[in-house]
Amino acid sequence: MNPYTIPNDQIQAAAVLLRSGETVAFPTETVYGLGADASNPLAVQKIFEIKGRPLYHPLIVHIATTAQLSTWAQNIPDDAWRLATAFWPGPLTLILQRSSKVPNEVTGGQDTVGLRVPDHPIATALLHAFDGGIAAPSANRFGQVSPTTAQHVHDKLGSKVGMLLDGGPCRIGVESTIVSLTHSQSVLLRPGGLSIEAIENTINKKVLLTQAATPKVRASGTLDSHYAPTTPIEIHPADELWHRAHQLAKLGYKVAVLKISDGSKYINSSGIKCFQMPLLADEYGHDLYATLHRIDHINFDRLLAETPPATQEWIAINDRLRRAAHSGHS
Ligand code: TXA
Ligand code: MG
Repeated sequence: MNPYTIPNDQIQAAAVLLRSGETVAFPTETVYGLGADASNPLAVQKIFEIKGRPLYHPLIVHIATTAQLSTWAQNIPDDAWRLATAFWPGPLTLILQRSSKVPNEVTGGQDTVGLRVPDHPIATALLHAFDGGIAAPSANRFGQVSPTTAQHVHDKLGSKVGMLLDGGPCRIGVESTIVSLTHSQSVLLRPGGLSIEAIENTINKKVLLTQAATPKVRASGTLDSHYAPTTPIEIHPADELWHRAHQLAKLGYKVAVLKISDGSKYINSSGIKCFQMPLLADEYGHDLYATLHRIDHINFDRLLAETPPATQEWIAINDRLRRAAHSGHS
């Protein structure tokens, strides 16, 4: 039996909490979400308080089925139905024109709404039991690393959450891909668990990549800090990584190195600890946040990440690392 099955009475209890305006943290296939009743402004406000998130930052509304799209959005273009049919449940968030059902608190006052059907049995059971939309950002403090286990949620938000459903480690480990379909051309707002290629093949059109999603662009002043571990992070190509690590170690820094290529001969020299990451993008993405949480627990002075390949499949990982490095710690 799956050790993370949640008995139906607990799912029902979580749905009752949501209905009473409380928050419930729950697993999805990407990361854990901090959920509240999307149609209840006071409940939604609790999410912002718990996360310490600015009110203008809009939330994704999670729904149980593709058919519910038309409850929460209007003037839905054909491409939205195509994408929803192809990829929901799954790691794709669609930005659409909102319906009158969506409160201002969810959208930060914008006339658009983010919608997604998550692909996780516990999220699905909760959505069906609750029988409504669940507004849920990632269940972390604003700007910090997203949780991929219930333990991460517990460590960071603890008693502030009404209830925490433990579904074990998240299968994908990186947030959903966000595509806006509110203009004539679809725009990628955040690379994530679903590849851009898959989206383009489904709608038979190019998706416009925003600057933040382009791997070649180096950290510029325009990137906002996000997804950041508390350990300051730098990104360096493989051939510069060890030089930088030793330079910092000589200054007395405790250095963590996030390595992709083989660096075994350098592992754990004085002041330096190496975390070997998987060579495959999917596996790297799965492990990234869990590794960042581990590194934060050990109290390193600096984290040096090896620059990942600049290919399409690494786009979400490059995006998250660059944002993490842009936190202004260093
Ligand atoms: O995988 C995920 O998407 C996870 C799980 C829990 O579903 N959720 C998640 O939520 O990552 P959050 O709030 O941490 O990130 C959602 C992003 C935010 O950067 C927000 O600005 C953007 O989605 N967003 C939400 N609604 C939007 C809208 N109407 N227009 C533009 N961006 C929007
Ligand atoms: Mg987040």
